[in-house]
Order: sequence, then C-alpha cells, then structure tokens
Amino acid sequence: MVKCYPTVSEEYQKAVEKCKRKLRGLIAEKNCAPIMLRLAWHSAGTYDVKTKTGGPFGTIRHPNELKHGANNGLDIAVRLLEPIKEQFPILSYADFYQLAGVVAVEVTGGPDIPFHPGRQDKTEPPPEGRLPDATKGSDHLREVFGHMGLSDKDIVALSGGHTLGRCHKERSGFEGAWTNNPLIFDNSYFKELLSGEKEGLLQLPSDKALLEDPVFRPLVEKYAADEDVFFADYAEAHLKLSELGFADAE
Ligand code: HEM
Repeated sequence: MVKCYPTVSEEYQKAVEKCKRKLRGLIAEKNCAPIMLRLAWHSAGTYDVKTKTGGPFGTIRHPNELKHGANNGLDIAVRLLEPIKEQFPILSYADFYQLAGVVAVEVTGGPDIPFHPGRQDKTEPPPEGRLPDATKGSDHLREVFGHMGLSDKDIVALSGGHTLGRCHKERSGFEGAWTNNPLIFDNSYFKELLSGEKEGLLQLPSDKALLEDPVFRPLVEKYAADEDVFFADYAEAHLKLSELGFADAE
C-alpha cells in the first residue's frame, strides 16, 4: 500500500519527540513495555480493510471498547498513560498509543520502528470480535489478520511480540510467560516455540498453530535462527499494523 503521510506542524512534531522521552521514562520506571505493546496492537488490530472501520484511531480508551473480552486488563495501560497524555494535549490519542507501542519495542532492545504522526482520533469503536482467539488455529489467524490486510509473514513476525510479557489468569484465563526474559525484545519466542513446552513457560494454542502450518513453520525456523531477519520483518509488520487505515493513498 502506497502511503501519503499528512504534514503535521512543527509544534506537533516537537510534542511527539518530547512525548517519546516521557514514554521511555514511564516504561523504564514501571516495567510496563508488554502491556503498552498489547495496547497498541489491540488498538490497531481491529482494522477491517473492506469496511475501513476500526484501527489505530484512539477509540480503545472508551469504556465500550475497553470492555471487549479481548481487551481485559488494558484499562491498566490506558490509566498508566493518562498522566503523560495530559502533558501533550496537542497529540491525538491515536498517535499517542501507537507511539507507546513503538517505544515499548525500542526500550526493551527491539528494532526501531519508524513512526509517522498525523492519525486523527475517531469516535466510533469497532464491533467486538475482530481480535484473534488464542484457543484457535492457523485458519482463524489467517482470517483475522486477513481482515486487517496483513499477510502470512506479518502473522508470524508479529507473533514474535510475545517475546514480551505474559498471560494473566484474571485477564485472559491463561497464565505464564512465553520466554525466560519477558522484558527483553529478542527472538527467544521462536526458539522456545521450537524447543517445545517446558515447565514454567507457556504456549497458547494459537502459538502452537505456527508450528503445524506449512507456511508459518519455516518462518518460525528462520526467525529462531536469525534475529536480524526477525527484527527486519518485525519492524516492517509492526509499521504496517500501526498504520492500518492511516495515510492510505486514494
Ligand atoms: C496471533 C494472535 C494473538 C493471540 C491469539 C494473542 C493472545 C494473547 C493473550 C491471550 C495474551 C494474554 C493477555 C493477558 O492475560 O494479560 C496476550 C498477551 C500479549 N500479547 Fe498477544 N496475541 C496475539 C498476537 C499478538 C501480537 C501481534 C502482539 C504484538 C505485536 C502481541 C503482543 C502481546 C503482548 C506484549 C502481551 C503481554 C501483555 C502483558 O504482559 O501484559 N500479541 N496475547
């Protein structure tokens, strides 16, 4: 998709830079990179290419979207971010949440993801049910990510986001982390996936589906073997995700 980014004012661009610093500070202080990445992804991942509805446009902060089952616990992220947002009233929530996702990956040692400002907030939240169900397999993943306009490669690369964080019983019903270093962004998610289930670590049915699929599995193997390739593909896929429905040339 060819992008045509809007121009933002110098004041806006300065606010983005300053806000980025504040986000680095908050994430370092609270060790909250994982939930920030989850917030950015759940905000963007509701995009539907056909109807051009949903997507990274700030609606996730509204109670009616936060209460979607898939978003359990994300009120914590919204609340943590609010004191920073108040310092930058000029920024849209849409840009702000995607910036938080980009910073979460950066400060945990992941790849730099380009950030283009200018998303405008929308008021209409997406319908519930557009985010993936962790109990399902590869057909479901293709269907859900296909609605976003994302590819098989994007699915596998983005799944590597589970290098960060963990599941919480009271939020998703699952418990545990995917890796031994859930605050470090690296390719260990793929290494652990290939080495099979171990005590103390978790693999969701949707993670395991990546091993069984003939297109997904070679990508898992490639990313486990070569972190540079993973970082390059991850950055590309995250950029796409963060810009779904934004700056699309007509
Ligand atoms: C492929 C389909 C996906 C499924 C089925 C899935 C499912 C889940 C589930 C069930 C949790 C646990 C939530 C909790 O209990 O706190 C979770 C957490 C998380 N997910 Fe995913 N996810 C998927 C894709 C992604 C993607 C694409 C990203 C980012 C690029 C991502 C980033 C995260 C992060 C960082 C956490 C940890 C949050 C925390 O520690 O608080 N996930 N995911």
